[in-house]
Amino acid sequence: MSRVLMFTSLKGGVGKTTAASALGFALSFLGARVLCVDLDFGVRGLDLALGAETLCGADVLDVIRDGLDPRQEAACLSENLFFLPAPALFNTREESALTKETLDRFLLCAREEFDFVLLDLPAGGGELFLPLAKNEHVTDALVVSTAEETALRAAEQTAFEIRCACSTTDVHLILNRCPMRKNLSRSLFEMAQDASCAVLGVVPEDALVRESAAHGIAPTRLPQSPSSQAYWNIASRLLGGRVPLLSGIASRRLRSSLLG
Ligand SMILES: Nc1ncnc2c1ncn2[C@@H]1O[C@H](COP(=O)(O)OP(=O)(O)O)[C@@H](O)[C@H]1O
Ligand SMILES: [Mg+2]
Repeated sequence: MSRVLMFTSLKGGVGKTTAASALGFALSFLGARVLCVDLDFGVRGLDLALGAETLCGADVLDVIRDGLDPRQEAACLSENLFFLPAPALFNTREESALTKETLDRFLLCAREEFDFVLLDLPAGGGELFLPLAKNEHVTDALVVSTAEETALRAAEQTAFEIRCACSTTDVHLILNRCPMRKNLSRSLFEMAQDASCAVLGVVPEDALVRESAAHGIAPTRLPQSPSSQAYWNIASRLLGGRVPLLSGIASRRLRSSLLG
C-alpha cells in the first residue's frame, strides 16, 4: 500500500526539506520506490538538498496543472529515487491554479508507481497546505519541529489544523536539532507533549547536516553520524520496523536522561 507523506510545519527553518531529502534517500536505498516532490514554490530547496539542481525537465507545477504523468516526467536520481522540482520562478502573489481534481489525478498516478511520495511543503504550508491536508490520498503528515518553544507551538498548531481538515491522516512528529546532553530543562517526551503528536523520530543537532546540505548531500548519505542514524531509524519505522527511539544515537544512560 503506497503512502503519501507531507513534510510540514507552520514554521520555517525547522528541517522539513532536510528530512525529506534524508528519508527519500534512505527509503529508496532500503528498496522502496520513492518520489520526492518540491512543493515549496517560493523558496525551493529540495533540489539542492538532493544534489539535483542541474536537472532539466518538467517542474511539478507543469506536471500537476497540465495533467502530465509523474511517472514519465520525474527525474531519476538513482535506481529507486525520483524527483519533481518546484518551478524555477513563481509569483507567490498569484494562485497556482491547482484544483482538487488536478491534485487528485497527480497523487493517484504517483501512488500507482511509487511506494512513497514525499511532499516537501513551504513554511506555513502555502496555498497547498489545506488542499493536501484534506486530501484522502495523503496518508501521513510528518510535522517537523526543533526543540524551541516557538517551533513546538507551531507544530501543535500545524497538527491541530491537519486533524481538523482530515481525521484519517496519521500525524507524526520529527523532533529535529535536539541537544543531546544530560540535564535538559525538559525531556523529549515533554516537548512532544507540547506539540501533541506521537514522536516518529528524534534527530540530534549536528553540524555535519549543515555542511553536507551545502554540498547537496542528504544526511543519510553521510558516513555514520548520530543524525544520519536518526533518519535511518525513521526510515525503518516507516517501513514497519520497531526501532527504539534513540537507538544508535545516544548511550543508554543518556537515553534515560533525555527521555525523562
Ligand atoms: N539536525 C540538524 N542539525 C543541524 N542543522 C540542521 C539539522 N537539520 C536541518 N539543519 C539545517 O537547518 C537549516 C534549515 O533546514 P531546512 O531543512 O531547509 O528547513 P525547512 O525546510 O523547514 O525550512 C538548514 O541550514 C539545514 O542544513
Ligand atoms: Mg524547506
